[in-house]
Amino acid sequence: MISRRGLLRGTAGLATLPLLPRSLQAQAEGPQLLEARPAQAQIAPEGYPKTDVWSYGGALPGAEIRVAQGSRLTRKLVNSLPAPTSVHWHGIRIDNAMDGVPGVTQKAVQPGETFLYDFDVKDAGTYWYHSHNQSFEQVARGLHGPLIVEESDPPDVDRDEVLVLDDFRLDPETGQIASFENMHDFSHGGRVGNIAVTNGVFNATLTAEQNERLRLRLINVANAKIFELELRGLEGWVVALDGMPLDSPIRISERLLLAPAQRADLIVDVTAEPGAEAHLVRFEGDEGYSQVLFSVREKASDSRRDPPLPLPPNPDMAVTDLDDAMQSQLRMEGGAMRGFASAHMNGREVGFREAAQSGKFWALNGTLGMPDAPLFVAERGQTVRVMMQNDTVFPHAMHLHGHHFREVLPGGGLGPLRDTLLMFADERREIAFVAHNPGDWVFHCHMLTHAASGMMTRIKVLA
Ligand code: C2O
Ligand code: CU
Repeated sequence: MISRRGLLRGTAGLATLPLLPRSLQAQAEGPQLLEARPAQAQIAPEGYPKTDVWSYGGALPGAEIRVAQGSRLTRKLVNSLPAPTSVHWHGIRIDNAMDGVPGVTQKAVQPGETFLYDFDVKDAGTYWYHSHNQSFEQVARGLHGPLIVEESDPPDVDRDEVLVLDDFRLDPETGQIASFENMHDFSHGGRVGNIAVTNGVFNATLTAEQNERLRLRLINVANAKIFELELRGLEGWVVALDGMPLDSPIRISERLLLAPAQRADLIVDVTAEPGAEAHLVRFEGDEGYSQVLFSVREKASDSRRDPPLPLPPNPDMAVTDLDDAMQSQLRMEGGAMRGFASAHMNGREVGFREAAQSGKFWALNGTLGMPDAPLFVAERGQTVRVMMQNDTVFPHAMHLHGHHFREVLPGGGLGPLRDTLLMFADERREIAFVAHNPGDWVFHCHMLTHAASGMMTRIKVLA
């Protein structure tokens, strides 16, 4: 195992690794290219070999795409990989044909071929893009990047930092990405790495000034890792989750959990003094590690600013008519330690052992993998409620494409808008949303080995 720097250990002698440069803003005339291709990256600390990765444009993570709310985003995917691929624009309320799901919204793009993605971006916020073909392998090899949609009236901050949180499983000898043929990853908690990185680098370091106000856009692109985060020398608020503004900022007073695919926008003030360090701390059990170190150089001002205002809401997000909603259910079963009695696979009922032999471990409503019929068919504009029951012993990060939902809380309140809901073992939780976006939308676990081994279904919204 590669050792990780402990939080409070001395930092003398640690290399200060620069972050990857920002891409230029999308403003060219013709379609800009998004080339998926092999590359090399220094993921492990210096002294270790570079790692062979799959990248967008040679960078890990892929170059940041930053556009204005209400604009059109156009990228021509060029597949220079040795495998078919596609791009999914995670969290974007997108035209269904541009959603990037092979077998559902498009054909996989073969090596040497291209695909033009071209769509309106209605909502401001923090999103990301990633491969949606063989995702458990391709995203883990590096095919992901941040997609930032700027508000026309952005909050008053000194700096906007995108922090892509990830982990890799590297062979400690060679520094190369470990094999994907590991049944334990499929049947248990997913492929968790042995080195955690931010923006593709281990021990990410930034500079900061006391009383500086930062917007931190956290994106968890890991295959299965749930990041447990705390702030040290930073104080602030969560202002958006999964891209969508909270009705009012929530002061950060406890650990923040970020499941695979989830995002959190924080507005934080640097409270550490000049010469000191601030940290975004990652917890592994009781041990804290520095996920991002902010080395505080000077004082930006003598005092902190007033608490931030809420971000402007995105259009047409109301979840209404809960009492007249269509009701649906999603039962999650399978995995190690509990399994299932029987489930539907390729037109017949199979037991857990037989399913496992075909590499399928998880069932949604008794079916392993994409069912013949959608979970439900909704009229456009209809409110839908889905009661989800996690009958497994593992957590799952359930992601619905093309829509954001709110959790219907026990007692009747509504949770924040999200596109990915983290559900722990034996939890039963209900979500509600307005099916406003026509098309076939997949609904799956974002622990990507789980999606690949059964936790995948879809819904249909009529035009
Ligand atoms: Cu981010 Cu279907 O995925
Ligand atoms: Cu899962």
